[in-house]
Amino acid sequence: MPLPHSVPAAPTPVVGTISVKLDVNGTEHTLQIDPRVTLLDALREYIGLTGTKKGCDHGQCGACTVLVDGHRINSCLALAASYEGEQIVTIEGLADGEDLHPMQAAFIQHDGFQCGYCTPGQIVSAVGLLAEGHAETDADIREQMSGNICRCGAYLNILAAIREVRDNALTHQNSEVR
Ligand code: FES
Ligand code: FES
Repeated sequence: MPLPHSVPAAPTPVVGTISVKLDVNGTEHTLQIDPRVTLLDALREYIGLTGTKKGCDHGQCGACTVLVDGHRINSCLALAASYEGEQIVTIEGLADGEDLHPMQAAFIQHDGFQCGYCTPGQIVSAVGLLAEGHAETDADIREQMSGNICRCGAYLNILAAIREVRDNALTHQNSEVR
């Protein structure tokens, strides 16, 4: 009996792309992306903001931390399409022109890094932490920053930098009250 003609394999379905508008550091970007693209990849591969780092890509290291409407998130675990209409801030959006954000300046002053790979995530996370108001003690800061891993072990200097920015902000608040 003759063998049946082989049936041609069905073509691989082409996954559709969608249009997504992202507000990043105050600029709107319209992307045509696969709906499965993460916010981290959208920032790095489509928008070209490579300051946000990819460490583990599994929500375990914090290198990809960005702020969304002021809250810290791991952008490697977030789908870009879910963040339309929200204000995303990356490490590139913290400085005011040539003026560094106080947290960036404090990290430099206190040597809060060695290789620097974790540093954007550490700084963005620290900015989010102080906005949350959960940094009253060193133990609070350590706990609240525990999602940001530093392979170089710069933790003591990172702590010192965050403590300084917190204390300066408190001093500023107190002087305004007087
Ligand atoms: S790259 Fe996102 S948590 Fe590690
Ligand atoms: S400074 Fe190297 S991983 Fe943190």
